[in-house]
Amino acid sequence: MSDYVEIFEVGPRDGLQNEKRQIPTVEKIALVDLLSGAGFRRIEVASFVSPKWVPQMADSADVLAGITRAPGVSYAALTPNMRGFEGAVAAKADEIAIFGSASEGFSKANINCSIEESLERFQPVAEAAKAANLKMRGYISCVTDCPYDGETPPEKVAWVAEKLIAMGCYEISLGDTIGKGTPETITRMLDVVLGVAGPEMFAGHYHDTSGRACDNIEASIEKGLRVFDAAVGGLGGCPYAPGAQGNVATEAVHDRVIALGMTTGLDRTILDKAADLARRMRVEG
Ligand code: HMG
Ligand code: MG
Repeated sequence: MSDYVEIFEVGPRDGLQNEKRQIPTVEKIALVDLLSGAGFRRIEVASFVSPKWVPQMADSADVLAGITRAPGVSYAALTPNMRGFEGAVAAKADEIAIFGSASEGFSKANINCSIEESLERFQPVAEAAKAANLKMRGYISCVTDCPYDGETPPEKVAWVAEKLIAMGCYEISLGDTIGKGTPETITRMLDVVLGVAGPEMFAGHYHDTSGRACDNIEASIEKGLRVFDAAVGGLGGCPYAPGAQGNVATEAVHDRVIALGMTTGLDRTILDKAADLARRMRVEG
């Protein structure tokens, strides 16, 4: 099995979306431009959601317009509905993502509808993405634990994954939204979810609230996963998941992957610079 582990950088979106200070667009662009030279294949830079819900992402179109696009890098955006999809297409996002949940409580808090309703809302987005030949990723939040509903049954994650794959998602990112997962619960969840599709269809998106994210990544690598979402400097959290702290730090994932004798293709020096910049963005202003 391949020893290349891809880190999908989500710092400019998941890392920054929860910041209280409204970060100037030029600062966001500077972070993305720095990250673009680090060796990532995919960077999530935008989110076309309601600015009333997530004010920090209101300048997503300007971020996409202002960055210097590096060849071979796919710049991704979240699109919860057709309005978001149209915004992402107009801003020339290279790929989009729909984002659902495996728990009802989080679905309601995050996107204001039930899981079933969210799948109905995603359907036209999926059809439009297919028609536009735009790659579409799928997120599932709360794959082991939900801040509202407690433990999530792995079967529910598998059920949502099957639906998102049937809609045309090329990859499903499995979110431990509140960082409560352990290698044991992540493995138990993967054992069921991998009954739906092979490990090449899945990515791990583990927040690091309990400091277990790298262990969870290692457990997932053992199950065959080779893509993990991370944010430089460990920034982030979801505004609708109380207690959710940062995403796992890109540089920590890189170091763990290297320690396992595998590769990420990333430039550690640039990661350090980007992590430093991301941390300063948090406090400046
Ligand atoms: P809603 O209230 O059910 O829908 O929101 P609505 O259609 O009634 O729209 C409400 C208002 O939003 C309206 O404006 C719409 O025009 C506007 P108003 O009439 O009140 O002035 N609106 C939009 N504006 C801009 N772009 C849009 C858009 N859609 C509607 N695309 C909605 C539903 C999904 C829009 C809302 O709940 C929302 O924006 N939620 C934000 C959710 C979010 O961004 N969460 C964070 C990202 S997910 C995450 O972090 C988890 C993840 O990292 C994985 C993990 O860690 O688990 C991915
Ligand atoms: Mg997240």
